[in-house]
Order: sequence, then C-alpha cells, then structure tokens
Amino acid sequence: MAGYLDRIGAGLVLKDVEPLSFDYIPAALVGRDDKLVDLATKFSTITLPETSCNVLITGPVGSGKTALAKVFANDIEINFSKKRNISSVHINCRNFNTTPQVLHKVITKLDPGYPVRGLSSSEVLSSIRKILRNLNKHFLIILDEVNHVLMKEGNDILYKLLRIDEDKQGKGTLSLILISQEEVVLNLLEGAVISRLGVGNHIRLSGYSKDGLFQIAKQRAELSLFNESYDEKILNLIASSAASKGDARNVLHLIEGAAKNAEKDGRKNIIPEDIQTISSKEVIAVEPHIIDSLRPHLQLFLLAICRRLKKESEITSGDAEQLYKVVCEEYNQSPKGHTTLWKYMKDLENKDFLSSKYASMPHGRGRTQLLSMPNILPSDLINRLELSLNRQFNI
Ligand SMILES: Nc1ncnc2c1ncn2[C@@H]1O[C@H](COP(=O)(O)OP(=O)(O)O)[C@@H](O)[C@H]1O
Ligand SMILES: [Mg+2]
Repeated sequence: MAGYLDRIGAGLVLKDVEPLSFDYIPAALVGRDDKLVDLATKFSTITLPETSCNVLITGPVGSGKTALAKVFANDIEINFSKKRNISSVHINCRNFNTTPQVLHKVITKLDPGYPVRGLSSSEVLSSIRKILRNLNKHFLIILDEVNHVLMKEGNDILYKLLRIDEDKQGKGTLSLILISQEEVVLNLLEGAVISRLGVGNHIRLSGYSKDGLFQIAKQRAELSLFNESYDEKILNLIASSAASKGDARNVLHLIEGAAKNAEKDGRKNIIPEDIQTISSKEVIAVEPHIIDSLRPHLQLFLLAICRRLKKESEITSGDAEQLYKVVCEEYNQSPKGHTTLWKYMKDLENKDFLSSKYASMPHGRGRTQLLSMPNILPSDLINRLELSLNRQFNI
C-alpha cells in the first residue's frame, strides 16, 4: 500500500467523528439546566389531556436553540409516555419554507405514505387532526429557523397550526416550539400570533461564555477523541478561541480541525499550534502595520510571550515578565516596571492578541494570571515582531 495511505483509518487522535457533526445531539446538554427548567415550566400542563403549550426560543447562532428543543422533546416523549402519548417532529424551515411543505412534513411523520397531492392546506390540516385524535396522540411541532417561512409567507402557517382545534370537538391536538434568532423574528411575528403563543412564553438564550464552551468542548472531546490525545489546557484553548463569538459550533469545528492537524503530522496528541493554525486562519490575521504601530516595549513584551506560547498553550504573567527582561537584554533596552507591564497586558487583551484568566499557582502560592493566545499563531507574530524590533533598534 502506498505509504501516504497509512494516515487513513490510523485513528491516532479521532475515535469517532460523528459527535463532532453540527447535527449531533448529545444525550444530555451541559450548562443549560436553567433553560430546560424554564421550558418545563412553560410546558407544565403538557401531560394533561386536552392541553397545548407553545413557546418561542430565540438566541444567536450556536447558542444551542436546536439542541435544547430536541433534547426537551425527546425527554418528554420518553419520560411521560405513560401519562400522555406525545410525539414530536423537528422541521427546519430553511428547507421547508412554505405552508404546504411544512404541513406535508408534519403529516408524513404521522403517516409516511399519506397521499397529499392535490389536497388544499386546510384538507391536510384536518387530516392531521383526524389522525392525531384517532391515535389519541399529542404532537409537538418544532419549527426551527421559523423566520424563513414567515418571511416567505407571513404568519399564515402559525395561524393555521394555532387554530387547529378552533370550532371543533376537543382541544390540545398540537403544541408548538418556534425557534429563531431574536433580531430576525420579533418583527416578523404578528401581534395576534404573539398573544396566542402567550406573552411571556419567550425563552431567550445568550451566546455561551468561555466556561460554557469549555464544558461543551469537554463533553464532545470525551465522545470523539482518544483520552490521551488532549488535556484540559487544550480544551481551554479551544474554549478561549471560540469565546469571542460564543458559538458552540466553533468548538466542534476546532476540535475536529485540531485532531486532523495532529493526525496529519502523525502525532497522537493535539498541541496548541493545531488549534492556533485553524483559528488564526478564521478569526484574526494580524496585519504587519498593526504590529508596527505597537509601542516598542509592548512589542518586546509580546515577543517574549509569543516565544513561550509557540511551545506551550499558556504562560503565567510572572513568567511573561521574566521572559520580557531576557528579551530586553537581547535588544539592549532597560525593562519597564511591573505596573507598566500590567497595562501592556490589558492592552494586548483588549486588542485580542491575548486572552487571560485567573488560576491558582501550584503548591498553594496564591493566584496568578494565565495568558494564552487562542486566535493567533505565535510563530506568525514572532517573525513580524523581530523584523519591526530589529529595524527600530538597528540590530
Ligand atoms: N448546552 C449544550 N450542551 C451540549 N452541546 C451543545 C450545547 N449547546 C449547543 N450544543 C451543540 O453545539 C452545536 C450547535 O448548537 P445548536 O443547537 O445547533 O445551536 P443553534 O440552533 O442555536 O444554532 C450542536 O452540535 C449542539 O449539539
Ligand atoms: Mg439551530
């Protein structure tokens, strides 16, 4: 076999790529207990006969809207099966953006062979109702990215679904979860629909914090990577790198990319550079003039940090200060004091060069700042910094 093919199926780092796909729904969500409780509260009557519950979930891309709704639907189907026969369907309205398409998707979930051709929307709707009532089933419809159908056809589909029981015998045929990014949906929803959904039935998700992203990274890494191939520092770097957007998808993308970079090199473990090369391509490319515009001692300080971060994922602020002194010697400059360096550190953080967090020192020696560089490749900066410094100090 040709040697280069050795890489395929070698499985040096990646155990299973499936949990890294954007559509993968983990058995349990991490860090969203409060939102699950919120949903359960809004659905508190769902196990009672003849009831419906409706909710709108909004939040930015990658804030876990789809995952939250799917995990919740799955949990209630399984846990309350003895109390009420509940099923659910998830429809992404980006792909099904007209009323007939949505209704078709709903009815074929109930009866895969149902002949819908030639039927009007109201006929399909009454068939949906008839099937559900015959089966004594309650149906939870998740309309994900609902803005697409609202934009194309207005609120018609929502009126139809919300009024399915109107003027008929029996209530509580359907429940609805609508999902969208907040800014695109609120002005598309008509007041009458909002009041039917129930004012207050709005759950807002925010983008994930670095901690939230770390938890997600940890969960997915356990599912998809071999244990020995990564450690907490690597997960931290991934979380920091994704933190500027708060988008959980970036975490998955970075884990997969980093694992592949490591395997491409024939390594069994992920190193910081495997992550930095991906994020440096996608997050920030530092233009040379930005480096040139930094004050000389800020450049010296950054150079010291980069040299360490080329090899390791983190550096303490104390080490950064020591290494800075070494670099000053190299350039024949007298070093600035602690307070100035502290300001430099904050400045570099504001400019997105560095990310910092507090951590305990080993052996209980108090707390320190740990600096990392999640979005930039340190070796890229080193060349530019050295060029700029050599020019300024005539070396
Ligand atoms: N709290 C969480 N715990 C575990 N995985 C999560 C969590 N939030 C999001 N994810 C995962 O991150 C990815 C993006 O989430 P998704 O639900 O698609 O976001 P959205 O629908 O808001 O764009 C999915 O693979 C999802 O399973
Ligand atoms: Mg989604």
